[in-house]
This record gives sequence, C-alpha cells and structure tokens, in this order.
Amino acid sequence: MGQCVHILNGPNLNLLGRREPKIYGAASLDDIARACTQKAAALGLEVVFRQSNHEGGLVDFIQRAIADEAAGIIINAAAYTHTSVAIHDALKAFDGPVIEVHLSNIFRREDFRHHSFISPVADGVICGLGAQGYELALEALCAMTENS
Ligand code: DQA
Repeated sequence: MGQCVHILNGPNLNLLGRREPKIYGAASLDDIARACTQKAAALGLEVVFRQSNHEGGLVDFIQRAIADEAAGIIINAAAYTHTSVAIHDALKAFDGPVIEVHLSNIFRREDFRHHSFISPVADGVICGLGAQGYELALEALCAMTENS
C-alpha cells in the first residue's frame, strides 16, 4: 500500500460545477476527487478525499490525518482560509507537508480573500490554476515525500 495523502475541502466546495462556474470552473468535486485518485495512483500514492461545510469538521479531518500518520495534507479550506485560527492551529499539529490549494486566484479577487490563515502553516500554495491545482499539489507532495 502506498503512502496516503489526505485532501480536505471546505464549505460550499460540494457545489462545485454549479457554483459560480466562471470563477470556480465546470468540474464537480466528484470530478476532482476522481482525477486526484487517478493522479495519486500514477504517483504510487493513496488518497483520502473529504469535504465539510463546518469548521470543526475540517479540524476533525486534520486530526484524523494526524492519527493516521498521513504522508501529507492538501487543503482547500475555502472561506475558512480567511477566518480560521482553529484550522491554522490544527495544521500546525501535523508534522508532514501541507499544500494549500485554491481554484481561483484569491489575490485577484476581493481584499478579504487576500489574507490566509493557512499559508503561514503551509509548505506551498497553489492558487488560480483551477482543478489542475489539486493534481499539481499531489505531484509536489510526491516529490517532497520521496526526498524526506
Ligand atoms: C476558494 C477561494 C475562497 O476565497 C472561497 O471562499 C472559496 C473557494 C477557491 O478555491 O478559489 O470558497 O478557496
């Protein structure tokens, strides 16, 4: 069995494909999950793919990644990116690599999206590349875990 990467998604991302497609693209979260599973298999990794609309749900997911000794975490915390000290603290408790992903370029959008509580505890940040950002994050994590 390969090393396992936990891919965690925050509020409203369950609506992808229907929600503001001009900003977030046409792919549904299921489409992204499928693409990630395929990409991970090609890289020799396993993935756990989760979504929650609740801040505490995301904290629980991070704690499960810690308990399961996940090889890495890829997180799109969605709106909680800009507000959540709890998610920041939970990620700090994880020893492995963390990659923050956003579908949209948050820096080209409203000012309130320019600050991230995730970035200071992330090893890398990918934003503005749409669904492809998740696959790029998997590639980066794979390279990081090979070198560790
Ligand atoms: C998002 C960007 C956030 O600002 C927003 O609240 C989201 C999605 C993105 O993937 O572009 O819900 O994280």
